[in-house]
Amino acid sequence: MQSKTPRNFFKPLAVGAPAPYRELPTRLERMIHFFPPHVEKMRAKVPAIASEVDVILGNLEDAIPADAKEQARAGLIEAAQACDFGSTGLWVRINCLNSPWGLDDIVELMSSIGNKLDVIMLPKVDGAWDIHYLDQLLAQLEAKHGITKPVLIHAILETAEGVNNIADIAAASPRMHGMSLGPADLAASRGMKTTRVGGGHPFYGMLADPVEGAEIDVASRAFVQQDPWHYTLVKMVDACMANGIKPFYGPFGDFSDDEACRAQFRNAFLLGCVGAWSLHPKQIAIAREVFSPDPDEVAFAKRILEAMPDGTGAVMIDGKMQDDATWKQAKVIVDLAMLVEQKGA
Ligand code: GLV
Ligand code: MG
Repeated sequence: MQSKTPRNFFKPLAVGAPAPYRELPTRLERMIHFFPPHVEKMRAKVPAIASEVDVILGNLEDAIPADAKEQARAGLIEAAQACDFGSTGLWVRINCLNSPWGLDDIVELMSSIGNKLDVIMLPKVDGAWDIHYLDQLLAQLEAKHGITKPVLIHAILETAEGVNNIADIAAASPRMHGMSLGPADLAASRGMKTTRVGGGHPFYGMLADPVEGAEIDVASRAFVQQDPWHYTLVKMVDACMANGIKPFYGPFGDFSDDEACRAQFRNAFLLGCVGAWSLHPKQIAIAREVFSPDPDEVAFAKRILEAMPDGTGAVMIDGKMQDDATWKQAKVIVDLAMLVEQKGA
């Protein structure tokens, strides 16, 4: 992909727009909590929910009926103007760029709450061209409305073409905040044969080999379900981390199976993701628990850092070899633990 020269990459894209961040602001974003802003009852709950979560997001896209799109946009503006979000992030998921609502979402939100919005989540991103379009438009609107800090872009990875172009998307702009896996749209786009929103499938797995010489009996052979999102998730983590942006698991749609939600979020956490979406209030606690490091792991990681104060050399702790690389692993966990501690839970 042809890209800007290093010196030009960090220049504002419009005269009067704020300079892009060189490093992302350090923020805890364990759960991105979705609310439907066209529903008055939900809008009334925004201040209470915002005080409980790391990120609150007004959803304007899928799940909002076509005839409520404008009401949802107006509802988000009203809720955002009425609430002080403190250290909680305020995000929006706008409608996609080829929809009839995407342009007005961007223009109206930037003119009314552009100084409050932290991140715009952009669905159905197919390639870097989508990011470039939004990037330029946001810079113009920031300049026009005197917005003082850049509004960041978070891409949803939910089309086969987007997965193909993931490295270019992640590197498209210093405005990139991160990416979320969108397993529902991605399943449809890929032609996967599942109607679930994230998680496993009872038939996606491996059957153990038959025991030689034993009677053929499928029931006695272990079948172990596998994670159908593993490949995409790791690809996303690599694309994000290589570019200094953040990877997230997206939605888990089965609200009747908290354990499966926990297991899916935990896989994502262990493989490098920093958070996931919460679509139901009970998923807030699940995400908080899963995306905060385990206290035993933190205690062990602290012992590694203490045993190697300058981060070099090799020591043994409880029979386990530690060196410069495990020191870096330990630092990831201890840094996250410190962020969680600062947030106060
Ligand atoms: C989320 O938007 C998804 O499609 O899974
Ligand atoms: Mg989607």
